[in-house]
Amino acid sequence: MTGARFEGAGERLGSAPRDVLEALLASVADAVYVVDAAGRVEFANPAALDLLGYTEEELLGRDSHATIHHHRWDGTPFPEHECPLLAPRATGETVRVDDDAFWRRDGSRFRVAYSSAPLATRGGRGAVVVFRDVTRRAEAEEAQRREAVERARAEEIHASRARIVAAADAERRRLVRDLHDGAQQRLVRILLSLRLAANEATRAAGGRAEHGDAAGGDAATDAGGEQLRELLDEAASDTQAAIAELRDLGSGLHPQILTNRGVAAAVESMTAPLPLLVTREIPERRWPATVEAAAYFTIAEALTNVVKHAGASAASVRVVDDDGGRLTVEVADDGRGGADVTRGSGLAGLRDRVAALDGTLEVESADGAGTRLRATIPLPAS
Ligand SMILES: Nc1ncnc2c1ncn2[C@@H]1O[C@H](COP(=O)(O)OP(=O)(O)OP(=O)(O)O)[C@@H](O)[C@H]1O
Ligand SMILES: [Mg+2]
Repeated sequence: MTGARFEGAGERLGSAPRDVLEALLASVADAVYVVDAAGRVEFANPAALDLLGYTEEELLGRDSHATIHHHRWDGTPFPEHECPLLAPRATGETVRVDDDAFWRRDGSRFRVAYSSAPLATRGGRGAVVVFRDVTRRAEAEEAQRREAVERARAEEIHASRARIVAAADAERRRLVRDLHDGAQQRLVRILLSLRLAANEATRAAGGRAEHGDAAGGDAATDAGGEQLRELLDEAASDTQAAIAELRDLGSGLHPQILTNRGVAAAVESMTAPLPLLVTREIPERRWPATVEAAAYFTIAEALTNVVKHAGASAASVRVVDDDGGRLTVEVADDGRGGADVTRGSGLAGLRDRVAALDGTLEVESADGAGTRLRATIPLPAS
């Protein structure tokens, strides 16, 4: 730093001897420069020269805005009349800016925080600018912001998956209720009417026989009555079959027994008709509806797979509520093994359903060693 260059600023920076000020400005970590009334760099301390990449000879006397502040961080031009750094020359007020860009000699940029204060120089009011490279701080802040946005997005996706599963379960329960209270009830009433009509037809035919009508020889009426009864019986058994089909459809969607009595009862009624031995160990307890649905559908899919693919002689179902806030559902068979989540949609769908509740699905299934499927589902704190 040369004494001559320093003179303009030094005279105004206080009454301390110039060499003290010089020493001070040379040693402070903050970068400092002074512009004169015309906005030209009149003084720059070593920290400023270092950050900007200039020698003193290169920088002094240059138009400060055009040299180090010509563009904003986003690359758009920075008109000099909008420059806050130079404003104190006109306003006499100090300006502080937290995040802006300065441009180095080599054309690269860095983020700066600065204050610019009015300073009387020989040619009129100039400004003294103190600045710091805040690139690292700004980058850290930006990374933090990005992380927070990412986290919020991941949380939202996660929450929306859980909501979708819960909504789908609720919708299945509603459909089952509608089927039961609507079509099924109506079919039951039709069935009753058909039974009554068949009985009437039988009675009418019997009555005629008793009154000796048959002797009168109206064989055609008798045959018609018999035919009518057969038709009514047939219609009744078709209706009965339709009721059974509706019931099966409903229980595939969401078994009423699961809603009414929970997992243990629902699994018991599911395993009864299966063509293999299934041992069950399931506590008679109730859990939240989404957890029960996940447990039930895990067991249903696993047992369907055992019947379809395993060639097993026995299977076991175990549900453990370890009171540690999670439910473990395990289905094992002694069949051929080789289950693969990526091959069908059953196991993959289960994995998604369980994951939506924050749980995990593991499949152990070495060739020839049977299959063990384990779902672990966290239980809500309440
Ligand atoms: N218990 C099991 N024993 C042997 N192989 C199994 C068993 N469970 C599943 N697999 C194998 O893993 C594959 C994937 O099972 P997944 O349930 O995903 O599909 P899927 O049963 O074939 O069809 P979907 O369930 O969609 O009707 C099956 O095709 C079958 O080859
Ligand atoms: Mg399957």
